[in-house]
Amino acid sequence: ADYDLGGYEHFLRKEIGEQPEAVERCISGRIDERFSTVKLGGLNLEPHDLRAIKRVHILGCGSAYYSGEVGAHLIESLARIPATAEAASEYRYRNPVIDPNGLYIAVSQSGETADTLAAVEELTRKGARVLGVINQVGSAIARSNNGGIYIHAGPEVSVASSKSFTSTCVAFAMLAIHLGRIRDLSPADGDRMITALRELPAKIAAILEQEDQIEEAAGWLAGFENAMFIGRVRGYPIAREGAQKIKEVAYLHAEAYQAAELKHGPLALICPEMPVVAVVADDELAEKQRSTLHEIKARQGPILAIAHETLPTELAERTIVVPRTEPELDPILMNIPLQLLAYHAARALGRDIDKPRNLAKSVTVE
Ligand code: AGP
Repeated sequence: ADYDLGGYEHFLRKEIGEQPEAVERCISGRIDERFSTVKLGGLNLEPHDLRAIKRVHILGCGSAYYSGEVGAHLIESLARIPATAEAASEYRYRNPVIDPNGLYIAVSQSGETADTLAAVEELTRKGARVLGVINQVGSAIARSNNGGIYIHAGPEVSVASSKSFTSTCVAFAMLAIHLGRIRDLSPADGDRMITALRELPAKIAAILEQEDQIEEAAGWLAGFENAMFIGRVRGYPIAREGAQKIKEVAYLHAEAYQAAELKHGPLALICPEMPVVAVVADDELAEKQRSTLHEIKARQGPILAIAHETLPTELAERTIVVPRTEPELDPILMNIPLQLLAYHAARALGRDIDKPRNLAKSVTVE
């Protein structure tokens, strides 16, 4: 039945709709109430090894790489370990220095992406500790790792990823909580995060209920030739993923920028013909976000905001309101409207949504 459209017009839409259950499966059996933390059975690393880690290096390609960027922010904020993500397709060719105190994490839905596999093989050959965050059980990348986390998203048929992206971010949130709780994260913060994780499926379902409004915004966006996606700090990987999704399925040219970088160049592009999709959580950077929106408005750039209910309505032409969660998890919820936006823009433009031109589900050749 997973390979069946089940009444939907496209697998992408079906898989976007499956996210509440996919997230539920990802966290199921992994919450440890008693110690305000999570249990990750597949890591194959003892707490004292995990405590010795000085840096986390995350590798993946495309959307898997962007989900790794979400993961890097989660690990830095909750575990206070420096963490970065890099495209595996670059990493494998640049003869990197292997960090003896580092933990390497390969991210892949299929577990078969050639560039990611090559990066893992190179790391393993050089003695690095590599974990995987993988969907396909028993896949090549899963087999070449020292251990890791299966995301249990279920089969993903659409070439464009949706539920695997979300579930990977959830798996990183769990890893970050785990690494945090064996270091400095307090039991109260552990509880705060596990409660928020538990509430994610219902909140994702509530966002899916706003489909009509998102479809309307997508129809509007589909009328432009270009779009800019912006986000700040933890919102930036989502801007990248949102731009990627709309390029992939709607063939609409889109670029993602860190909001604060606009004034260093791309602000020159802002005009009535350049819509801006802005990821603007009401978090510790809310004031900065609002001033960016003012700068765009002053140049007549039309804005579609993905925001919390507190965003003043006059700051954006259109706003999709997303439920609140803990700020660290905002990107997970804010990405859901971006998926529907890409889907409905592609539909409005009559694209081949499940099999976009020139793309393959998993890139197993160079
Ligand atoms: C996402 O929509 C794309 N299909 C693509 O960027 C994908 O995430 C990338 O090719 C990596 O695939 P993997 O997760 O199977 O390794």
